[in-house]
Amino acid sequence: MPDEIAEIVFTEEQIRARVQDLGRQISDDYKDRRLVLVSILRGSVFFATDLARHIDLPLSMDFLSISSYGEDSEGVVRITKDLEENIAGKDVLVLEDIVDTGFTLKYLLRTLGGRNPKSLEVCTLLDRRARRIIDIDLKYVGFEIPDKFVVGYGLDYRQRYRNLPFIGVVQP
Ligand code: PRP
Repeated sequence: MPDEIAEIVFTEEQIRARVQDLGRQISDDYKDRRLVLVSILRGSVFFATDLARHIDLPLSMDFLSISSYGEDSEGVVRITKDLEENIAGKDVLVLEDIVDTGFTLKYLLRTLGGRNPKSLEVCTLLDRRARRIIDIDLKYVGFEIPDKFVVGYGLDYRQRYRNLPFIGVVQP
């Protein structure tokens, strides 16, 4: 384990089990619907590809990249890579690795909602509710986490540690 990782919060096994649960639940909820998974780059990619493998339905996957204007940007976000797919009339599930303030999702939901999907919901692996400023309805949450800086399974510290198979607290 890297020296900077102070503790493990969720092991690889715990993550796998939870992602499998979420996949089952989504498979039930979206039966006979036109599911589009929208993974928000870059953090959610690991979660998205694992989750998709546990969803037993025909689905499509698309990717959206955004950039925020710094720490205090309060939701000033822009799309740097847009979806390829037209989501009108489809059931869109936005996949996030973590929700903090909610500003990113507020912007994304407003933008994607304007494209007339049939439904638009959110599935996040981690919910760090202590940092929430904007109230966002999260349909699926993998785990709630305390207000600590976590890395691994997609989450980074200065672009490092995304490839750790577990989620841990980083103490640089
Ligand atoms: C993280 C996360 C969300 C956003 C949540 O992305 O993936 O998109 O922050 O924060 P908020 O709720 O306060 O808006 P980050 O900017 O770290 O980019 P990354 O996914 O490329 O690591």
